[in-house]
Amino acid sequence: MRVVSGIQPTGNLHLGNYLGAIVQWVKMQDEAECLFFLADLHAITVHNDPAQLRTNVREMAAALIASGVDPDKSVLFNQARVPAHAELAWLLNCTARIGWLNRMTQFKDKAGKNREGMSIGLYAYPVLQAADVLLYQATHVPVGEDQRQHLELARDVAEKFNTDFETDLFTLPEAMIAGPAARVMSLRDGSSKMSKSDPSDMSRINLTDDADTIAQKIRKAKTDPAPLPATMDELADRPEARNLIGIYSALSGEAAQVILSRFEGQGFGSFKPALAEIAVESLRPITTRFNELRHDHAAIDAILAKGADKAAALAAPTLKRAYEVMGLFR
Ligand code: TYM
Repeated sequence: MRVVSGIQPTGNLHLGNYLGAIVQWVKMQDEAECLFFLADLHAITVHNDPAQLRTNVREMAAALIASGVDPDKSVLFNQARVPAHAELAWLLNCTARIGWLNRMTQFKDKAGKNREGMSIGLYAYPVLQAADVLLYQATHVPVGEDQRQHLELARDVAEKFNTDFETDLFTLPEAMIAGPAARVMSLRDGSSKMSKSDPSDMSRINLTDDADTIAQKIRKAKTDPAPLPATMDELADRPEARNLIGIYSALSGEAAQVILSRFEGQGFGSFKPALAEIAVESLRPITTRFNELRHDHAAIDAILAKGADKAAALAAPTLKRAYEVMGLFR
């Protein structure tokens, strides 16, 4: 079993990333060989500020370590330090089909009406993501629900490459969508996911927010005037309420039904303070550790450089064979 996953170093680590993916990463460290990386090559597919990117890579690395990713157990690195990712992505660009990429909903969402003005990198983004996991023969990829389609594309690319070149080179990776909350929604709009790129910081809880900020964001979270019902079924048409119950459940480990039985008939005025308390308590150790680590650039850089050396060594045989089976001299 080999586990591989990545996160873009854009903005802060938020509760969606944490509950959708990082909790699983931390858990998998004791069960399998794990590689986790900062997807800096993905981050440059939209306009980037170089100084900001450098800060973000270090801060995201510190946030992951603070969340429990242990560089002594897992290989932790930034993608750009391992050139094999970009190299394999080019080879796989020649296997992936334009029709497949045209179906990617994340590209459609990000491009909106300005498709022609987007970078080629943003369009080919899922192929780099396929390279990220195929390079290491990943068997399992722990991600949130929003990455399901990208993982399916990685499987399609692997399968077509193996068929076209009559090889068994690439392992077909499986998406592990099993975090405590695979799809955490925005606090401002229950129909869109919590995201680093949402212009409103009030839409997300960052793992770096202090206790007052977390409490304020939850107090101001969009809800509806109705009291909480007895069952989750009755929340089907109340996405904001459903999301807050889901967050409570994921943080506390209690079933949603148990939480509803406790708050049934009560309004958000009593539920929100309880949610704020559990959120603050769960995130406090992470925030404390993050603040201790974030300015220690030397330590973070050393961890990432060491991780990159290990990752490069693990990637080398697969990349070499990919060149060979394609008939390339290298
Ligand atoms: P990214 O940086 O958007 O998110 C990192 C991880 O967090 C999950 N996630 C969520 N889960 C639940 N609710 C949410 N609101 C939420 N928002 C984000 C994501 O599903 C992801 O698991 N393209 C990827 C990064 C990547 C990658 C890879 C992932 C690059 N190469 C290879 C896996 C394997 C991305 O932008 O994730």
